[in-house]
Amino acid sequence: MHVAIIMDGNGRWATRRGLPRVAGHRAGVGTVRRVVERASDLGIGQMTLYAFSSDNWNRPAQEVESIFRLMRAYLRLETERLRQRGVRLQIIGRRDRLPKLLLREIERAEFLTADGECLHLRIAVDYSSREAITRTISTVSQRLLQEPQSSVDSLQNFLNSALSSESEDVDLLIRTGGEKRLSDFLLWESAYAELFFTDRMWPDFDAADLDAAVADFKRRERRFGGSTTNAAHSIAPSAGLSP
Ligand code: IPE
Ligand code: IPE
Ligand code: MG
Repeated sequence: MHVAIIMDGNGRWATRRGLPRVAGHRAGVGTVRRVVERASDLGIGQMTLYAFSSDNWNRPAQEVESIFRLMRAYLRLETERLRQRGVRLQIIGRRDRLPKLLLREIERAEFLTADGECLHLRIAVDYSSREAITRTISTVSQRLLQEPQSSVDSLQNFLNSALSSESEDVDLLIRTGGEKRLSDFLLWESAYAELFFTDRMWPDFDAADLDAAVADFKRRERRFGGSTTNAAHSIAPSAGLSP
C-alpha cells in the first residue's frame, strides 16, 4: 500500500497561536516522526510525504531557510532510528537547487538506510509533479528521435516505467490543513488514488488520524473503471493509447 500525504497547515497552526510560522514547521517535524512510526507499525509499504514544493520557493527566504534547516536536523537526528526500523529513505525532487549541507545530509541518510525493507519512505523536496512528467517526456522524445518507428504502445510503456521508477501508484492520498487540492503532487501516480481530506492542521495530525484515514480507505470500493470489483468476464481491449 502506498500512502501519500500533503502535509499542510503548519503556518496557520502557528499563526493561530501567535507564533512565527517556523514554529509550525518545527511542530510539523514531530508529526512526521509519529506518522512514520505509525506507518511502519501498520505495515504500510510505501509512504511519500510532500515537504517542500517547487512553488514553495516563492516564500520569503527566511522561511525557506528555516524549512531546510529543520530538514537537515531531522535527517541528522532520525537516520539511525529509521535504519533500525527497516525504513529506506529516499528524497525525490530536484537536487540542484538545494543547499550543499542539506544535500550532504540527504546523501548520508539515503546511503545509511539503503537496505531498509519494511517501509519505503520518500520525502518530496523541491518537487513538482509537472516538472517530473515534463522531464520524462523530454527523455521519451529524445528516444523517439533515435527510434522514429517506436509504436505509441511502447512509448506509453516507457513513460509509465520511467515515472514509476520514481513511484508506485498512490493508493491513499491524504491532505491535512483543510484545502482540497493537489498542489502539483504526484499527478500521474494518483490517477486512481483514494482522496482523504481533513481539516486537522499537520502539527495536530497524529497516529489515530492516520489510523482513521486508513480505516476509511479500507471501506471504499475501488473499481478502476469497472462496474464491480470482479472483472472476470470483461472484454476489455488490451491496454494502449491507440483506438
Ligand atoms: C505546509 O504548511 C508546509 C510547507 C508547505 C513547507 P504551510 O506552510 O503551507 O502552512 P499553511 O498552509 O500556510 O498553514
Ligand atoms: C503544498 O502546500 C506543498 C506542501 C505541503 C509541501 P502549499 O501550502 O504550498 O499549497 P498551496 O499553495 O496551498 O496550494
Ligand atoms: Mg499551505
